[in-house]
Amino acid sequence: MPVLITNNFGGASPFCVELLVKQAETLLDLTGCADHELSLLLVDDPAMQEINKQWRHKDKATNVLSFPQGGADAFDQHPMLGDIIISIDTALKEAKNKKTSLHQHLTTLLVHGFVHLLGYDHEQSDQAAEEMFALEYHYLQALRTRRIKMVKLAINVDHVATLRQARGITEPDPVTAAAIAELAGAVGIVVHLREDRRHMQDRDIAILRKTVQTKLNLEMGATEEIIEIALDLLPDMVTLVPEKREELTTEGGLDVAGQKDKLKEVIARMAEKDIPVSLFIDPDSSQIQASKEVGATFVEIHTGRYADAASEEEEDKEFEYIASAAEEAYEAGLRVNAGHGLNYVNTARVAALPTIEELSIGHAVMARAIFVGLDQAVREMIDICRFA
Ligand code: PXP
Repeated sequence: MPVLITNNFGGASPFCVELLVKQAETLLDLTGCADHELSLLLVDDPAMQEINKQWRHKDKATNVLSFPQGGADAFDQHPMLGDIIISIDTALKEAKNKKTSLHQHLTTLLVHGFVHLLGYDHEQSDQAAEEMFALEYHYLQALRTRRIKMVKLAINVDHVATLRQARGITEPDPVTAAAIAELAGAVGIVVHLREDRRHMQDRDIAILRKTVQTKLNLEMGATEEIIEIALDLLPDMVTLVPEKREELTTEGGLDVAGQKDKLKEVIARMAEKDIPVSLFIDPDSSQIQASKEVGATFVEIHTGRYADAASEEEEDKEFEYIASAAEEAYEAGLRVNAGHGLNYVNTARVAALPTIEELSIGHAVMARAIFVGLDQAVREMIDICRFA
């Protein structure tokens, strides 16, 4: 067991401990220390303050401390490299100030602590600091190689159909909206064909299948009628969502863990027609593992709780759940999308996550389009994605 993890952080942990351990193991490999052991201790601020006081005579919490086993000189002889201690409380505060996720910041702190264990010390001299930071940069790059460069935007045009259905006439047409969104730079069009046909109609998706130039993503409940329509339509992908007749919009993610057999079967039927499947799930580890098990290609992480958060504190917490879930899904080999409730204020933070491939946004873009036009509303959202 090369990495001995102790998680003494008392609060709910909006990060994936297993991923941190995996990164520590990768660092051991990268540095030729695979035969060494490393102890990783996660604590809160009061515990960190105690450790800092006892061992460094500094009566305050800090983000990360490293203690080489028997001193850095013993590196070659001792099987235990040493201890890295990280305060999750401080890491959370720093992540927020740096506008990054807790997971990404923990990676940075882990690398910093690790390089200390290798005998580097930025406090010795300017040259030592330069050497240490160059090495940290190198390891950070190595840990983050396979990341998504820029998140892409897919536009959900259901709301255009909702407006049309309110009058029961032929306009506005979601087909026209899809074309404008594509011309403005959207990389995909998303439509939800509901069982009750409250917005998108069969005619819409049939025309869209012929006109969409980018990618048609059919959102759907896993019911036999809609499955058969999808198998006949051949969209570029489907996103399975839970669907309740009485809801205003999709509420909560799919319970993949609770219906593995059924979803496995639906995914297999789609695979026969080369239709990749995305599962719309809450940012929850058990749902990610279940999504992998049933053979999904993508997961779409439900950002609704983040978008609806009633306080800044709750929003921060929900953001960390999304960040952690996205990392976990990506590391499990799933492609990662996200969506629901994203708008011109809350999207940048999610778009900046390095593992998310695509955002699916409808309401906020259509709401803005009423005032500024759909072309501009889409372009403004793409700018948010581009500069996140
Ligand atoms: N993703 C899924 C799975 C959805 O059901 C919806 C809403 O239809 C969205 C994304 C887009 O949500 P919003 O309209 O709030 O942007």
